[in-house]
Amino acid sequence: MTHLLDIKDLNKADLEQLFKRADEIQTETKALRLNRLAGKQAVCLFYENSTRTLLSFQLAASGLGATVFHLPVSHSSVQKGESFHDTIKTIVAMAPDALIMRHPEDHAHQQIVDLLPNNVHLINAGDGQNQHPTQSLLDLYTIRQHKTNFQDLKVTIIGDIKHSRVANSLIDALTTLKTTNIVLYGPDNLMPKQYADKKADNINTALDQADVVVMLRIQKERFDKNEFLNINQWHQQYGLDADKLKLANKDAIVMHPGPSNRGIEISAEVADGPQSVILEQVANGVLLRQAVLYQFLS
Ligand code: NCD
Repeated sequence: MTHLLDIKDLNKADLEQLFKRADEIQTETKALRLNRLAGKQAVCLFYENSTRTLLSFQLAASGLGATVFHLPVSHSSVQKGESFHDTIKTIVAMAPDALIMRHPEDHAHQQIVDLLPNNVHLINAGDGQNQHPTQSLLDLYTIRQHKTNFQDLKVTIIGDIKHSRVANSLIDALTTLKTTNIVLYGPDNLMPKQYADKKADNINTALDQADVVVMLRIQKERFDKNEFLNINQWHQQYGLDADKLKLANKDAIVMHPGPSNRGIEISAEVADGPQSVILEQVANGVLLRQAVLYQFLS
């Protein structure tokens, strides 16, 4: 495989290979790690804001000995009217080994894939509401550190499902690993039709005996002009607090891709509580992105 655009392109064996690669990288010495991608060059091109994904790709690449360059879109020729395609052709002409891109449009990566030669690997760092493959890898890897198998898990995802590429990628990846008990909950207008069979009737049934609870931010920046949301009652209706979390299994883990809004989708007590693995997800983000870069670039 040349590019990583959609988590559905990876089968169970591919996912397991990446997890094993991450295990391996984690246990080796810094000196060994720095040799893995020595001499390689990666470019990060992010058309949307990012803290975790951008920084973890940069740390991942440099931690493997690659040199990584971040082109800040707000300071680039995009601001002088250069088209998306011309920007990509310009970057490709400089022959980096990897182009790590985030874009607000669904399937933006598919639009440019034909502009890339086989030795420039395109890695999707999030496209619109569609996919966020490396997020699902780090999510799965975090689950795998706490749970023994994927098949018997109840995974509950709560919040703004409609605008969430995190939810799409995680549902796809869990499905590849044969998790059948995936339950979604959120307001009806933020529940995509394709997931109607996974929707819980209320938050109590959604959380009841869950093994993994994933909370999502209201992704206001992805709302259409005619989409309206009153967030006053959000925490009460769709937010996770310590009382509601008691409905889940005692050893349930609480996840959030970040950035989180405390007091809205998650209480501070839960975000900082013993069941929260939010910072483990962040740490695993660097590791899984290293596994991906090594797999595609070496
Ligand atoms: C997510 C994203 O960008 O889709 N964040 C992330 O990559 N960690 C989720 C979000 O923005 O809410």
